[in-house]
Amino acid sequence: MKRLNIAIDGPAGAGKSTVAKLVAQRLGYIYIDTGAMYRAVAWQAINNKIELDSTAIANLARQLELKLAYINGKTEVAVNGQDITEAIRTPEVSRVVAKVSQVPELREIMLKLQRDMAKQGGVVMDGRDIGTHVLPNAEIKIFLTASISERAKRRWQELTAKGYSIDLTELEAEIACRDREDCEREIAPLIAAADAVTVDTTSLSIEATVEKILELCEEK
Ligand code: CDP
Ligand code: CDP
Repeated sequence: MKRLNIAIDGPAGAGKSTVAKLVAQRLGYIYIDTGAMYRAVAWQAINNKIELDSTAIANLARQLELKLAYINGKTEVAVNGQDITEAIRTPEVSRVVAKVSQVPELREIMLKLQRDMAKQGGVVMDGRDIGTHVLPNAEIKIFLTASISERAKRRWQELTAKGYSIDLTELEAEIACRDREDCEREIAPLIAAADAVTVDTTSLSIEATVEKILELCEEK
């Protein structure tokens, strides 16, 4: 069977990475988490106490030695030899990543890396601009969404399980703010591709979402 490229985009907490991993597993494809790449740059900016302006972020991106590996169900991320797999998931990184990811030079560098990873086909890539910019020719494009309250609840549960003490209302406001920044930026904003299938997961289980995507793959 032909190895397809599958693009999964959508706002924070819609279930993209969970579903993308499972679809990749079922098809024997490679899973690529593009959000982890932008998070790595945001982490590096915080860690080096760099101003979040375009010039500084662009300089950082040019020097960045980013390694992404998908091992045992987890995207392992290293920057300049340092493992930052867990460090990129903190609320601190989530708070600045949308600002960092607006920088044009950074997006240009990421675009090249992401296209290169998908050139052989057989990838499930999740992010914000995959169906619209990174892989406009992807055979399957999914726009995954869910209500803001459901997405905030999911993220809150994840963070609480990791030991963070977070106010649900504040988290919801932060997620809404990040979504807005992602939707309103000039380059490659978050928007459903014209040929994407929108799937609302507010009351849809992970398994049902995976099945729906696999059905679309079979039709191809
Ligand atoms: O997992 P979550 O939905 O919270 O976010 P993520 O996928 O890890 O992405 C983190 C941030 O990176 C997003 O809010 C965007 O600002 C940025 N991003 C992007 O600009 N383009 C992508 N293709 C993926 C992520
Ligand atoms: O990648 P994205 O930010 O879109 O979301 P995620 O990290 O895959 O999912 C956020 C959380 O929601 C995870 O803990 C998932 O297990 C959960 N989830 C869910 O409860 N129901 C779904 N249909 C999808 C995800």
